[in-house]
Amino acid sequence: MPLPLFVGEIVDSDIDAVVDLWRRCGLLRPWNDPHEDIRICRTSGHGVVLVARAAADGPIVGACMSGHDGHRGALYYLAADPERRRQGIGRGLVAAAEAWCRARGVPKLNLLVRKENTAVLAFYEGLGYRDTDSACLWHHLDAETGEREAAMKAAWAKGERR
Ligand SMILES: CC(C)(COP(=O)(O)OP(=O)(O)OC[C@H]1O[C@@H](n2cnc3c(N)ncnc32)[C@H](O)[C@@H]1OP(=O)(O)O)[C@@H](O)C(=O)NCCC(=O)NCCS
Repeated sequence: MPLPLFVGEIVDSDIDAVVDLWRRCGLLRPWNDPHEDIRICRTSGHGVVLVARAAADGPIVGACMSGHDGHRGALYYLAADPERRRQGIGRGLVAAAEAWCRARGVPKLNLLVRKENTAVLAFYEGLGYRDTDSACLWHHLDAETGEREAAMKAAWAKGERR
């Protein structure tokens, strides 16, 4: 049964609950700082962190981050409470992020799915998302931090969780 869903912008008092949700959903990585990601998104002027509740004043049951770079919209950190999966939270948040982008004249959204998370592809395909047929590359603008992050990613891929 789909939950009634109340989706709105994050406020300061939501931040810890959102980061905890992302942690419980396996979205955090040691090379990313979710508090800093939220801060940058909220102060950028072209990003939003959306939170979903099943009641207007209830606990947070889902969250995501969206934004745009003037060309494409983006979707990050999409999460539905593990106790409330398959009740429309993910779909509702994607729709809210799409509406946020559409309202700003942004016609397309991109998102990244980590290689180890291919199970989620069926969810996105069901919502109309397709493979870009493009490789996705990254580069840290601080070379030293980039080397450190690359080493952390390699260790994580080998199953080292520290
Ligand atoms: C992906 C995620 C947000 C989906 O949230 P959800 O609230 O369970 O999804 P919904 O209930 O809105 O599902 C929407 C549709 O997708 C389908 N669906 C949901 N999860 C699915 C899955 N893992 N595999 C296949 N289909 C799926 C549902 O059946 C539903 O279709 P229907 O209701 O029309 O039958 C949730 O599984 C999650 O938080 N995963 C962990 C974090 C994650 O991997 N995020 C994505 C990072 S790229």
